Amino acid sequence: MVLILNGPNLNMLGRREPEIYGRTTLEELEELCEAWGAELGLGVVNRQSNYEGQLVEWIQGAEAEDFVGILLNPGALTHYSVALLDAIKSQPLPVVEVHLSNIHAREEFRRHSVTAQAARGIICGFGTLSYRLALLYLAEVLEVG
Ligand code: DQA
Repeated sequence: MVLILNGPNLNMLGRREPEIYGRTTLEELEELCEAWGAELGLGVVNRQSNYEGQLVEWIQGAEAEDFVGILLNPGALTHYSVALLDAIKSQPLPVVEVHLSNIHAREEFRRHSVTAQAARGIICGFGTLSYRLALLYLAEVLEVG
């Protein structure tokens, strides 16, 4: 099973700046991820929190919950959360960082990811397809499907 974590404000997807993040709601995105996971032979569990500490605890506990990989969209925490960076480093599972928007084509403060240095890789700029591509990577590296 792969743990999909969406961070702050991603519960507002569909309504939040749709010209940047699209019109797909979080619920729809979660359903898409389940379907894409199923195609790849990956079970997925979707979680979202607006709280940094909750995300830290989910990351810390992922291996004990028997997850084999993590897909993480840290939202704005991407750009400043050393706590999330340390949480990723504290555990052995591969983490793929995902963003709907191309953070490198946006405001200066979004161009740096603090969390990315502990991630296997980053996929950004492809909207909901960023999640699909991350699942494809995880399926390959986890040798399932
Ligand atoms: C985001 C990009 C972040 O800069 C922003 O704070 C978000 C969403 C994305 O998916 O494009 O909340 O992670």
